Amino acid sequence: MLVLVLGIESSCDETGLALYCTQQGLVGHQLHSQIDMHALYGGVVPELASRDHIQRLVPLLRALLYAAKIEAKQIDAVAYTKGPGLVGALMTGACFAKSLASAWQVPALGVHHMEGHLLAPMLAAQSPEFPFVALLVSGGHTQLVAVEAIGRYKLLGESLDDAAGEAFDKSAKLMGLPYPGGPHLAKRALQGRPDRFRLPRPMLDRPGLDFSFSGLKTAVRTHFQALDDPSEQDIADLCLAFEQAAIDTLVQKSIRALKQTGFKTLVVAGGVSANLYLRNQLEQAMCKRGWQAYYPPMEFCTDNGAMIALAGALRLQAGQYDQLPLALLARWPLTDLQEL
Ligand code: KG4
Ligand code: ZN
Repeated sequence: MLVLVLGIESSCDETGLALYCTQQGLVGHQLHSQIDMHALYGGVVPELASRDHIQRLVPLLRALLYAAKIEAKQIDAVAYTKGPGLVGALMTGACFAKSLASAWQVPALGVHHMEGHLLAPMLAAQSPEFPFVALLVSGGHTQLVAVEAIGRYKLLGESLDDAAGEAFDKSAKLMGLPYPGGPHLAKRALQGRPDRFRLPRPMLDRPGLDFSFSGLKTAVRTHFQALDDPSEQDIADLCLAFEQAAIDTLVQKSIRALKQTGFKTLVVAGGVSANLYLRNQLEQAMCKRGWQAYYPPMEFCTDNGAMIALAGALRLQAGQYDQLPLALLARWPLTDLQEL
């Protein structure tokens, strides 16, 4: 059966639309990032995010259909991000998706944003096979999940405070770097000198797979405030020290999770999976043990419509679709999902 699914992502500050076909793969995608708008305020302003999504959805859909040479009547179903996320922002995509589905008389399906991230490596040429450990590292989540099948998820560990991306963003902000801090901090770290600052590796000395990043952020603040009129080189050095401490923790806990489960495959997804130092460190650690790591293509690490179209297509193909008119979830544990 050929299933062509329109996917819509609007959970935070990116409006993403994509078409995914269960036989041909990704047919097309469009993305609008609100980064420039929120950068003025140093972080996401939820109400502005919702308003901007509303303005972008229709033009992006038109552009998507035009570029992919697809007519609306060819679309078999509409998938949208149902949660977790900013509820106003979620509402815009959900209402749009439900309206289209109703007008086109096709099913709609609400998708879990983190399942979208988790499956995004399947958009790459080399796709992971089950079972695997997923390291989900975004602006809102840091989780290690044992994945045996789509929907069969066991939470192995998570951050007890800030998410990894959030720690990058907050540390960057307190050093005066622009929003979103993660990519800016990573760029500055390239000029950093190792061993200038030594930052803590929180929770590494304790057993278990949970993370904590707020102490690391506080250590960055303490070192930064102790600098008298910090130079560009001081900032680069501190960025590198932060990046090394955060990534070291992510890598070591991922190895620990693989040992604990006995799995040999790691999937890394979410915005921080774009970090090249993380990919590099993981590659070394995995290669040494004969294990393999999979990542989404670079453009699908941060929020996008393609991952929602893909996750939606796999679930729709298995016969799932929305039973309720509209139910959004600002908080939604990944482990509540139904197994396929
Ligand atoms: O997955 P995502 O787009 O949104 C959420 O679902 O939260 O992730 C965004 C996060 C931000 O915190 C951003 O700073 C971080 O991913 N990020 C990075 C990099 N690119 C994006 N963090 C570190 N290094 C990067 N290269
Ligand atoms: Zn995300």
